[in-house]
Amino acid sequence: MIILGLNMSIKSLNAREAYEAILRSLEKHHEMMRFSLPMIASENIPSPAVREALASDFGNRYAEGWVGERLYAGCQYIDEVESIAIELGKKLFHAEFVDVRPISGVVANLAAFTAFTKPGDVVFSCSVPTGGHISHAKKTIGGTAGAIRELDVYNYPFDEKNFNIDVDKTEAMIKEMDSSGKKPKMFILGASVFLFPHPVKEIADLAKNYDAKIVYDGAHVAGLIAGGIFQDPLVEGADIFTLSTHKTLAGPQHGAIVSWSKYAESIKRIVFPGLTSNHHLHAVAGVAIAFAEALEFYKDYAKAIVTNAKTLGQALYERGFNVLYDNRGFTESHMILIDVSAYGNGFEVEKKLEECNILVNRNLLPYDKRMGRDYRAPGGIRIGVQELTRLGMGKSEMIEIADIMKKAIIDRTPSKEIKEKVIELRKSFQKVNYCFSSINDAYEYIKIR
Ligand SMILES: Cc1ncc(COP(=O)(O)O)c(C=O)c1O
Repeated sequence: MIILGLNMSIKSLNAREAYEAILRSLEKHHEMMRFSLPMIASENIPSPAVREALASDFGNRYAEGWVGERLYAGCQYIDEVESIAIELGKKLFHAEFVDVRPISGVVANLAAFTAFTKPGDVVFSCSVPTGGHISHAKKTIGGTAGAIRELDVYNYPFDEKNFNIDVDKTEAMIKEMDSSGKKPKMFILGASVFLFPHPVKEIADLAKNYDAKIVYDGAHVAGLIAGGIFQDPLVEGADIFTLSTHKTLAGPQHGAIVSWSKYAESIKRIVFPGLTSNHHLHAVAGVAIAFAEALEFYKDYAKAIVTNAKTLGQALYERGFNVLYDNRGFTESHMILIDVSAYGNGFEVEKKLEECNILVNRNLLPYDKRMGRDYRAPGGIRIGVQELTRLGMGKSEMIEIADIMKKAIIDRTPSKEIKEKVIELRKSFQKVNYCFSSINDAYEYIKIR
């Protein structure tokens, strides 16, 4: 691999050159982000306060165990911050129990799977083309549930027309499995392509017949739930709500578990010593700050995100894009799904947009398998507006972005011309909004060396 700009191969770098190349790449990345349209649905920009926490000495320490029961000295301030995070999390998600130690959404999921199942148990989740995350998936595709926890994963029958789980067909499927002696132990809800709330209450009603548990993976929609604009999974019947803290909830990259007191002790034991040793204490501080920001600002932020997603969906649709689910107003979340097969495939469209400083990701569509397409060159792209919204963009910018994307993809305008428009648009949106303090620019590169 050649280092961009230096024209040197990575293998030939000495230590000093490598050191400088790393720092240069970091700065260049920040420069790229300053003038791009970041629309990858699983990302966000945290506030300067969260970035300050990430740079703190907490990131160099250990605090194994639970607050107040640590196995190391020097944890006084760490305990204070983690206790605040737990209390804020309980308030934010109307929960009895919060564990902020899982270091990612996948680790939170694995903790939930471990709490409620044993290897070989039957569980249900959405397939990847219908939005499911790889951590929910079968052994055959290397999913955490199947390949790591060794669960027997079945996929929900899916209503493609409405992009949701088909509850009636799921019920019929379970009854048939039951008659051959297979009973479900856990239902995983939530998804990576999560356009509309899942039928938590209906699946929870089914689950009761089998004493099965409901794991709601709200990694994507945690910020929308915090803002009160998406379904409240615990109220609707989930036993456990797992999340990433860095998607619509704009904290640091980390995970958390939200649940009921009755599950607290078993979850705590699984998270430590089972799945973590150090739990990334700088990120825990960042999560605490993000929870405080969410309590104060997310009623407005979450509302603005969903309005922007709907506006962008409508504007792209009106300009000729095949934005899916116009029958349902495109989305109730931060993301939209577009079938771009008329312009090549999702990979080609992703690359063309990247040349224009527009960052999206290719995505499988529910019917891609039938069309002979796979994840390398799927038929779709997924777009999220949570980061643009955090930068202060609103309806008029969504319409401008739809114009820009039409020019790039439908009119095939040269990328250089489009990139100039993107840079111009981004100039006025350099601060993080919906946070207590924003002295530094969103993507400012801060040197402390
Ligand atoms: C639904 C869902 N769950 C879990 C994850 C994994 O989260 P993390 O990257 O925090 O492990 C993702 C990632 O995007 C996701 O979409």
